Amino acid sequence: MLSGKRIIVGVSGGIAAYKSVLLVRLLIKSGAEVQVLMSPFSKHFITPLTLSTLSKRPVLSEFFDQTSGAWNSHVDLGLWADAFVIAPATANTLAKCTVGLADNLLITTYLSARCPVFFVPSMDLDMYAHPAVTDNIQTLRARGNKIIDADSGELASGLDGKGRMAEPERIVQTLIEYFSTSDTYKYTVLVTAGPTYEPIDPVRFIGNRSSGKMGYAIAEKLAEHGANVLLVSGPVNLKTKHPNISCTHVETAAEMFEYARKIFPNCHAAVFAAAVSDYAPEEVSKNKMKKSDTDPVLRLKKNPDIAAELGKLKTEQQITVGFALETENEIEHAQQKLHAKNFDAIVLNSLRDTGAGFGTDTNKVKIIDKHNTIRDIELKSKTALAGDVCELIFNLLSTKK
Ligand code: C5P
Repeated sequence: MLSGKRIIVGVSGGIAAYKSVLLVRLLIKSGAEVQVLMSPFSKHFITPLTLSTLSKRPVLSEFFDQTSGAWNSHVDLGLWADAFVIAPATANTLAKCTVGLADNLLITTYLSARCPVFFVPSMDLDMYAHPAVTDNIQTLRARGNKIIDADSGELASGLDGKGRMAEPERIVQTLIEYFSTSDTYKYTVLVTAGPTYEPIDPVRFIGNRSSGKMGYAIAEKLAEHGANVLLVSGPVNLKTKHPNISCTHVETAAEMFEYARKIFPNCHAAVFAAAVSDYAPEEVSKNKMKKSDTDPVLRLKKNPDIAAELGKLKTEQQITVGFALETENEIEHAQQKLHAKNFDAIVLNSLRDTGAGFGTDTNKVKIIDKHNTIRDIELKSKTALAGDVCELIFNLLSTKK
């Protein structure tokens, strides 16, 4: 199942290190070649002898061999591996990988690795829920790393909650899926969703009726196929469920743009499902604006067009898909947007169709591609339509090899 795959298992210093013993054994049984890297502190929990016996290779931990002076090249290790699994990944190791604090061989190898990296966090529930840790996990995910989410249950501290390292069987299963299924597991996709709110004063804003349902449904579908999804969402009443989705909440178009621009270079694809406000008040009043006898005038300024700006940065290997909501000359306007924003395809909603557009659970669309091929999709639930969009993205990505 993992026959011939070269896997580095990085063990950092947490009590769940005892489970790494079983992980190494299962990987070897599945046919993988395993190289174990131990952080110095992890040796307090398990011995290198146990892991070297099971992996059939000397365990590496130091930058060089203390007696022979031989250099343990993190660069060679990083190039050798087909996958790097860091299990357990403690809060400390997650933080070091996030900021690039290269003070042990596990971290230098992580920084040199060209293969996919799977972090398997393990720690006490309050640590796991701490914003410092969740932010680091989010950053690592946004850089294209995979996170094998912790389980809930009894913890070494005696407390009960989320933080238990995923069972070795689940880790091995994830790797088998990663190597055996199609490329969908390898993709990182940015999805924008929901409206943006543009403040007028501390209590008022300009917004729109977008529910975010379409974008969230696409994010869920992509995640179900194994993709690493970076969802950036305006204010909506929705929650993401899938562990492959990392959701960043923003309010304004400027915030959405800032985040999307930062992560887009790490993405294979982007889906622009957000209903971004085209304009924002030129000035935001610091205090609540008082009612006056004269009619107030609100000056607006143009917001960044996120899709168009990222379309300019798009490389030959990336694909982007946009949405258009039109009320007249629908196809012509959608085609103009497709070209102006450098999309590979555009999903066209017409407000004239019943059951389509904002707030509804259903949608009726046409998908238009760069060659102006038009595909009519019948009225269906947004979840079912998300499946079509997902298929479209994977098909477009498969042409990029
Ligand atoms: O120009 P229009 O708003 O109709 O374009 C719709 C497409 O462009 C959608 O995919 C939407 O998410 C994206 N868009 C954007 N930033 C904007 C306006 C639209 O990303 N400021």
